[in-house]
Amino acid sequence: MTAGKPRVFVTRELPAGTLEPLAGWAEVEVWPDFQPPPPAELRRRLAEADGAITMVTDRIDDEVLAAAPRLKVVSNCAVGYDNIDVAAARRRGVMVTHTPGVLTDATADLTMALILACARRLPEAEAALRRGEWRTWHPLQWLGLELNGATLGIVGLGRIGRAVARRALAFGMRVLYWSRRRDPEAEAAWGIAYRPLDDMLPEVDVLTLHVPLTPETRHLIDARRLERMKRGAILVNTARGDVVDEEALVRALERGHLGAAGLDVYSREPVPPDHPLLRVPGVIALPHIGSATERTRRRMAELAVANCAAVLRGERPPHPVPEML
Ligand code: DGY
Repeated sequence: MTAGKPRVFVTRELPAGTLEPLAGWAEVEVWPDFQPPPPAELRRRLAEADGAITMVTDRIDDEVLAAAPRLKVVSNCAVGYDNIDVAAARRRGVMVTHTPGVLTDATADLTMALILACARRLPEAEAALRRGEWRTWHPLQWLGLELNGATLGIVGLGRIGRAVARRALAFGMRVLYWSRRRDPEAEAAWGIAYRPLDDMLPEVDVLTLHVPLTPETRHLIDARRLERMKRGAILVNTARGDVVDEEALVRALERGHLGAAGLDVYSREPVPPDHPLLRVPGVIALPHIGSATERTRRRMAELAVANCAAVLRGERPPHPVPEML
């Protein structure tokens, strides 16, 4: 160790070369395991660190922060940062940063993939083929929802919500949205329409979620709201698991009120293989891969490193989380 160099703990291996901007002037330690550092280990490493580059799997709560007296920055390699107690970080003078923008397209693409897979029943049809159950072409078999002319409801018209809107419009969908703030420009330019959330639900064939997880959005889609959705509608969640009440979702799918759900995120991750959600028909479940493209993961890492480096140099980071502004 060289005295005087700031120490950075990185909780997982990042794409090759992305830590280069810290080389020479910071002492960087990368957690070598595929699994995240266990909580006690995380506390131990952060106790000595000036900067942390963290993932959505690392819980940075007040206890962790209290044990990290030198820490100046928690740079989350994600756009979401519900794994970090931002209020506690603020109180302790620790900057929190994230990586918005660079994962918009990858996440919007995956959302469309889930919408299409649910609407056209892809896993079900493919599994039947593999089981040898494709015996003929039949006019009534594996019928799904055609996106052209169907109505999409977007919950949260931020960057990712807008990118999904543009894609859905290209598929000929009618697009409605609910968001904290109305976007008259997008309404005028794209012909999308705002609705209060409860009014939008009965109108849509597909509902897709693009809000961050906050105390206000936890269980935003609860039993009552699922009930307001059209019978047979599709729910897609690439945001955060806890935006939906999962138990209520299981019930809505079990009774056939919802036709399908396309999920990339869960209340508890990794979702256990025996979770009820994985047993109900109509669920397409992915392992939190919204941002998982080569290009996006590289750009996320680059941004996370840039954020961390800026704070350690005493500069304003490019992307502090909004609560830090
Ligand atoms: C994020 O960035 O918040 C994603 O969930 C991780 O890809």
